[in-house]
Amino acid sequence: MADTTKRFPDGFLWGGATAANQCEGAYNVDGRGLANVDVTPHGKDRFAVVAGERKMLDFEDGYYYPAQTGIDFYHHYKEDIALFAEMGFKTFRMSIAWTRIFPNGDEEQPNEAGLAFYEEVFRTCQSYGIEPLVTITHFDCPIHLIKKYGGWRSRELIEFYKRLATTLFTRYKGLVKYWLTFNEINMILHLPFMGAGIVFDEGEDHDAAKYKAAHNELVASAWATKIAHEIDPEVKIGCMMAAGTYYPYSCRPEDVRAAQVDTQKELCFIDVQARGKYPNHALKDFERRGIDLGMTDEDAQLLAENTVDFISFSYYNTRTSAAPDTECERTQGNAFAGPKNPYLKSSEWGWALDPLGFRITLNDMYDRYQKPLFVVENGLGAKDTVEEDGSVNDDYRIDYLRAHIEAMRDAVVEDGVDLMGYTTWGPIDLVSAGTGEMSKRYGFIYVDRDDAGNGTLARSKKKSFDWYKKVIASNGSDLA
Ligand code: BG6
Repeated sequence: MADTTKRFPDGFLWGGATAANQCEGAYNVDGRGLANVDVTPHGKDRFAVVAGERKMLDFEDGYYYPAQTGIDFYHHYKEDIALFAEMGFKTFRMSIAWTRIFPNGDEEQPNEAGLAFYEEVFRTCQSYGIEPLVTITHFDCPIHLIKKYGGWRSRELIEFYKRLATTLFTRYKGLVKYWLTFNEINMILHLPFMGAGIVFDEGEDHDAAKYKAAHNELVASAWATKIAHEIDPEVKIGCMMAAGTYYPYSCRPEDVRAAQVDTQKELCFIDVQARGKYPNHALKDFERRGIDLGMTDEDAQLLAENTVDFISFSYYNTRTSAAPDTECERTQGNAFAGPKNPYLKSSEWGWALDPLGFRITLNDMYDRYQKPLFVVENGLGAKDTVEEDGSVNDDYRIDYLRAHIEAMRDAVVEDGVDLMGYTTWGPIDLVSAGTGEMSKRYGFIYVDRDDAGNGTLARSKKKSFDWYKKVIASNGSDLA
């Protein structure tokens, strides 16, 4: 039975989220240039490449590059958006491939074919009453900008990004109301090639490069916010981070302090975007370590005057912090490696499962920023089995989402968190950012494609498809 007393606010934006590089494919079609995400391979060297440790700026023999084809959303978008509409989506989060608009990144004039493609996508969404929510850059940086300028280390990228943003806001005025400037901006600290096009030089101070790049992105983000509001005062601009509260491993003050430091580090960039200045602990840290951001007085003023309208974030799990001398089991291998929380179970990919942590994170974020929040990613990456009759009975995905939506509902209805909407990650199966696999599936819609690139790319509905449709139709009151 639906609990109608626990409804989300009217106008709550339900939907799903994708990223250009993980679904579009068509990497060399209609004038598109090459980006970092294209040359990021599946397989053993992927992590070293995304971490900026292994230089790979062109396709190399012996590797498979899943972004080249993705799920070919470029040629399937009409069919895919029709399926989203059938589920009742109110919003669809997607991103722009920078290199479709400016193939090298530093041209004066945009590529009309790229602009026309996104215009068609937005018009298709609007024809179903689906509001596009658009990330300007989701882990993509033109290869030319990496080779010529060193990626976001260089301030010159600010100007190129401004040109991109101005072009987008002008062309899509009236078609797109919600924009995000950079996907998971704190990911620069963990996956700098993905987050900022950084490949480290030998002997380079990694943190200095990362923070400098982040500063340039923050300035670019503030410019985009300013420009967007000038072009269309109706537009809402959000920042975006990979969120998840840090729990202290124990109540030993050293563990609590470790959690505080981790929290401060991850939230530092959102502090700038939401509050308009760097927190003092970060400035002290930069000073201590001789990190020069290259910040000008104009930067400081721009950041102060152009904070975001809302805060968006992804939530997959909470994290745990411990002092270095705390004896505990530590997880390896993903971007947020750290102490393993003994109270939580994990997904097949070792990601902690913590729905209550979602409520905690929502409260933490709202307490800190007091701005509307938007959850723009959440979901379970899992292996699916296609039965003989073609069905996929993904009850595990339904269970995960039910528990998380319940926790989110508690945060909104019981705790009063101001939440604009919720988009699940990968409503249609797509390439995993972390591993490059197709088999790590998040979708309500199955895509026939495997980790080696075989398959027909045919789409089919999983069991979760009708479930999510019901959730949306009941505005979150019927989660059965
Ligand atoms: C977020 C990213 O970090 O998590 C997405 O914004 C990504 O691009 C998602 O796909 C899930 O991670 P993964 O590694 O399972 O694809």
